[in-house]
Amino acid sequence: AQPVVDLSDNVLTARLPTGDSVTVYLYGATVTSWKTNNGQEQLFLSSAAVLDGSKPIRGGIPLVFPVFGPPPKSHATGNLPQHGFARNSYWEFLGKSSSESLGGKSDDSVKLDFGLSSDFLDEATKKKWPYDFGLVYSVTLEKGKLETSLHVQNKGNQAFEFQALFHTYLAVKDISKTAVRGLDESPYVDKVRNAETFTESSSSLAFTGETDRVYTPPTSKDDAGLVPLVVTEDGADSFLVSREALPDVTVWNGWEDKIKGMGDFEPKDGWQRYLCIEPGTVSSWTKLEAGDAWQGGATWESKL
Ligand code: BG6
Repeated sequence: AQPVVDLSDNVLTARLPTGDSVTVYLYGATVTSWKTNNGQEQLFLSSAAVLDGSKPIRGGIPLVFPVFGPPPKSHATGNLPQHGFARNSYWEFLGKSSSESLGGKSDDSVKLDFGLSSDFLDEATKKKWPYDFGLVYSVTLEKGKLETSLHVQNKGNQAFEFQALFHTYLAVKDISKTAVRGLDESPYVDKVRNAETFTESSSSLAFTGETDRVYTPPTSKDDAGLVPLVVTEDGADSFLVSREALPDVTVWNGWEDKIKGMGDFEPKDGWQRYLCIEPGTVSSWTKLEAGDAWQGGATWESKL
C-alpha cells in the first residue's frame, strides 16, 4: 500500500497505510489535523476557527513568518500584522515525495512540500515588506511522528531580517495535569509579567494560570545541540519535541479569561485542552544576505 494524498478545495490530506494522517490547508499552509494510527487527534483546532481564508486559522500549526508577535514599529516588518503574513497567505502545493525516493520503504512516510514567494503575496503586503523571498515548508508524516521544516531563501539583491516559528497547538487532555520537561535553567521572557526576564527553576513546568513565555534554553553541554522537550500528561510522556536551528520556544496557554475574549476560540472551556509549544527563532533577528538560505525544523513525536 502507498500513502494516499488528496488535494481538493485547497485542503490537502495525506494518509499512511498505518492509518496516521495529516490535513493541511493551503491557506497559511496550516496543518489543522494530525492523527496517529490509534485515531487520536494530536492537535487542538478551535471549533470556531475561520477556515475560509479571511483570518488566520485558530489551532493546528499556524506558521509564523517573517515576524513573531506585534512587529516592532522601528523594524522593516513594522507595518505587517501580528505574526506576519505566512499564516494568512495562500501557499502552493509543490508536491509529495514518498520515503522510497528518500531511501526508505515506500509506505513508511510521506513528505509534502508547500511554497510561498514574494510573487504570491497580495500587493498591499508586498508593499509592507518589499523583499524577494522564497519559502518551502515541508511537512513529513511518519508513524507516530510529524516533522515540520521551513526553508527560507533570499532571492533578491538586498539583505533582510526575519523571525520564524511553528505556533503548534498540541491537544492535551487536561492542562492542569500537563507539564513540560527540558526547560530548567532556561532564561525566558515572561509576557504576563511585564516582559521581564526570569530563569526557569522547575525541571517540570506545570500550568496554573495564563502562561505566555519565550524560552531560550541553553544548548546541551555535550554539544549535541538543542535539548528536546518532553510534554507529560498525568506524569506520562505524551509528546517529544526536537528542534533544529530553532533556539527559542514560546509556551502559551491563554487560560480562561484570555480565551473568553477570543471570538474564534471555541468551545470556551477549550483552554483546558491545548498547550502551545512553539519552536522558533524569535528572540533575535536572523539576517539573510542576498542569495543566502536558512533552514529550521521541528519533529513532533506522539508517545501515548
Ligand atoms: C502566542 C503569543 O504565540 O500567540 C501570545 O505569545 C498570543 O501573546 C498568542 O496571544 C495568540 O496570537 P494570535 O495572534 O494567534 O491571537
